[in-house]
Amino acid sequence: MALVRIPEEHATLRDREAITRRLTEAGIVYERWEPSHPVPASASPAEILDAYNAEIERLKTDGGYVTADVIDVGPQTPGLDAMLAKFNREHWHDEDEVRFIIAGKGLFHIRPRTGPVLAIEVEPGDLIRVPRGTWHWFDLCETRRIRAIRLFQDSAGWTPRYTESGAERGFEPVCLGPGQLAGHGAAR
Ligand SMILES: [Fe+2]
Repeated sequence: MALVRIPEEHATLRDREAITRRLTEAGIVYERWEPSHPVPASASPAEILDAYNAEIERLKTDGGYVTADVIDVGPQTPGLDAMLAKFNREHWHDEDEVRFIIAGKGLFHIRPRTGPVLAIEVEPGDLIRVPRGTWHWFDLCETRRIRAIRLFQDSAGWTPRYTESGAERGFEPVCLGPGQLAGHGAAR
């Protein structure tokens, strides 16, 4: 289950309904997906895509996505830091950013045109859809691992366009999720 922090409001949302409502207000789609049959996080890309085929097809029809793949990055990935450095500054894309998390954890910061920045920690089972044009940035959590299904409207559109606002500098790329709650959760 995702966790949403709103630093400006000193608020942390852990309840699915509250998270979905707040993200919907900001134009972000959030869903929890179940596989059609049990599939280990280490399964092949083809097996993963098959287990979530119904959800993928629904989203394709809904959002005009034409392809889906599985991305897998971890501490051993060559050039990981260079890859992450492309996305940890505020940017937008000309197509939606759609991710369903299979393994690992990541942290999206979303800066709506109006309203406070939302820090969204995503974990396995979470689907997030960030519409084209949305200002955002992304970091991995401490394990520096993420495996995710991606959906594309047109992979040619998949380049970050930087706002150069520097907004990301005001927010720590730190995840709070299970295992990192001690000392943080009680105060919120
Ligand atoms: Fe992005």
